[in-house]
Amino acid sequence: MIYQDFQKINTKDILDKKFYPVWFFTNERIKDTLKEALKKNKSKSCFGIGGGGDFVFSLLSMTDNIRSVDVCDLRQLATITIDIKRAIFSNFSKEEAQEVLRGYKKENKEIVYKKIENDISGESREVLKKVFKKGKSKNFIKEIKESGYWYKDSFWQVKNKKEYLPYFYNGNYNFLKKQAKKINIYYGDILNVIKEKENEKYDLIYISNILDSNYYCKDREIYIKKIREKLKREGVLVVVTQKSIKNIKKILNKEGFEDVYEKRKIFNLIDSFLGHYCYSFLFFRKEEKEK
Ligand SMILES: C[S@@+](CC[C@H](N)C(=O)[O-])C[C@H]1O[C@@H](n2cnc3c(N)ncnc32)[C@H](O)[C@@H]1O
Repeated sequence: MIYQDFQKINTKDILDKKFYPVWFFTNERIKDTLKEALKKNKSKSCFGIGGGGDFVFSLLSMTDNIRSVDVCDLRQLATITIDIKRAIFSNFSKEEAQEVLRGYKKENKEIVYKKIENDISGESREVLKKVFKKGKSKNFIKEIKESGYWYKDSFWQVKNKKEYLPYFYNGNYNFLKKQAKKINIYYGDILNVIKEKENEKYDLIYISNILDSNYYCKDREIYIKKIREKLKREGVLVVVTQKSIKNIKKILNKEGFEDVYEKRKIFNLIDSFLGHYCYSFLFFRKEEKEK
């Protein structure tokens, strides 16, 4: 199920391509970041920007300290992507799920759809049905890739770097299958979703790229203040950025956060040819004097 408390998902708009594509797979170097995040925080209750969902799936595969994870995304199709992936994880073994997500040869479109259809939301079913009806391939992931609803780069990334999906290569996949039930998916802007969680405070909040653009975050100060309010005393804020980390730190420092860890992006020409983006990961805590 996808919670749609603020706006309803409009599958026609998605299918008419009224929006930018979304990522099917997400951040590289997330594995190292997660290890570090878990060292610094016990993470019982988490909140994350959805994207392709890999952050949250990877996190859940690595620790049993998590009680629940709320994820949100302002792009409708991103929430559907997470919904589909969650259903794949709950219905397939590790080897099968890898084949579904990374194997481009098998004629598995119908089989995969049949297995997940009762575990996904009506909106996800509608989108998948249409994608599969339009496409010519018999392969599940190829159809998704070729449809043009998702950024093609993200499929390259996974093809070229298998460790890109830590839940298959480092995490405990069987454990993830059980843990995936702990995810609550929300369609909406982080500000609305987080505000609605009146009595909730989080041990870990993950924001991927939202401070990078005015389109994502119209008034950074308001967003950061709310995020700060929703983070527990000892909580960790994980910020992903493709912009200058100096600026991001400046903005967050001004709003009462101190930076405690960073993994800077290092540009690599070969990686960029293979479709890998450079993300920096920054961790913050609430400043001591203001706790
Ligand atoms: C730039 S993408 C990059 C992919 C990303 N690195 C990831 O982890 O998936 C960031 C995601 O954040 C979502 N997003 C951006 N601003 C948001 C906001 N204010 N509220 C909710 N989601 C937001 C976008 O729709 C997109 O799916």
